[in-house]
Amino acid sequence: MQPFPAAVVLVGGEGLRLRPLTRTLPKPMIPVAGRPLIGRLLDHLAASGVVGSIHLASGYRAEAFEGLEGPPFHLACEPSPQGTAGAVAFAAGPASGPLWVLNGDALVPVDLAAMFEVHRRTGALATLASVRLQDCARYGRLEVDPEGRLLAFREKDDTPGAGWVNAGVYLLEPEVLGAIPPERPCSLEREVFPVLLSRGARLQTFPHRGYFRDLGTPESYRQAVFDLLEGIHLGVGVEVDPSARLSPPLYLGPGCRVGPRARLVGPSVLEDRVQVGAGAFIDSSILWEDCRVEEGAVLRQAILGRGARARGRVVPGAVVGFACDAPQGRNPRGSGLNSLPPSREKEPGT
Ligand code: GDD
Ligand code: MG
Repeated sequence: MQPFPAAVVLVGGEGLRLRPLTRTLPKPMIPVAGRPLIGRLLDHLAASGVVGSIHLASGYRAEAFEGLEGPPFHLACEPSPQGTAGAVAFAAGPASGPLWVLNGDALVPVDLAAMFEVHRRTGALATLASVRLQDCARYGRLEVDPEGRLLAFREKDDTPGAGWVNAGVYLLEPEVLGAIPPERPCSLEREVFPVLLSRGARLQTFPHRGYFRDLGTPESYRQAVFDLLEGIHLGVGVEVDPSARLSPPLYLGPGCRVGPRARLVGPSVLEDRVQVGAGAFIDSSILWEDCRVEEGAVLRQAILGRGARARGRVVPGAVVGFACDAPQGRNPRGSGLNSLPPSREKEPGT
């Protein structure tokens, strides 16, 4: 396996679309069936041979990354958001060889060795992993020629329809870092790549035909977690009353307790130490550590942040912040979910 020199993982976005979950936790630290998202990403880097320095480019709630288990990393903390390009320059400093750069909020197990090979063979200044999607509007749309050479990069141009998009995994030569202005925030997607293309630089794409999911919205987060589930996983010390009914796929982290006649319907995840009272009903939901579901409560398609409590019939699709009470009612997601204002639009960096 090829040992690669260094990688920067971008983890500084505020995760606005995942609020209130990301009020106290950066998006890459959200739990994904027993392991934070960023932990899964670091595992993939290590398994691919990226054993040199790994830099986490943070600036939002950076302290949350300290103590993360797994491959070692350096934590770079921007004093203010520098944009995706500025963050790379800030975290990596001057580079002497190619550098991996990855968005820190997606599960996309790109074959890095094969991508490295394409980068070398084509002599590109930058190689971008691409994925084909049915709807590109939420992503960076890529126009490519038949050999995969990048012709145009259109970040969220809102044009619906199928096509190739940026998967957020790049291999950059030092000249790309040299093109990043040091004195102001700057975006790879909106500025650096388009400017390099306008100068005629060779940028290459590497088609990734496997799994891809950006976990930036409640819907895509829930889907990504559910994609990973298989059968019924019971962590150490889980106690399930014999009269409770469990329908897979389910993940119950260490120390969960499920009371009499409770019903858990998969796909659902209960992270560590979740308590489920007698007769409670949980369907297609994700509950973070230390949540409490009271006797007889009903939860459907909900995401409950750490330490949240659920009572009665919870609004279907509710997304509930840390240690908050889940809102009750029958209306679908969108009304009275929490006391916070709706997320502002802000891109990139959301
Ligand atoms: N350090 C730092 N500083 N990190 C940042 C900043 C910043 O100023 N702004 C964004 N990030 C990080 C985010 O934490 C995230 O991991 C990554 O950069 C991408 O930002 P998102 O806000 O998640 O962007 P997106 O999902 O809308 O779009 C990006 O990802 C798509 C694929 O999932 C773009 O790269 C698209 O082109 C791409 O298709
Ligand atoms: Mg994203």
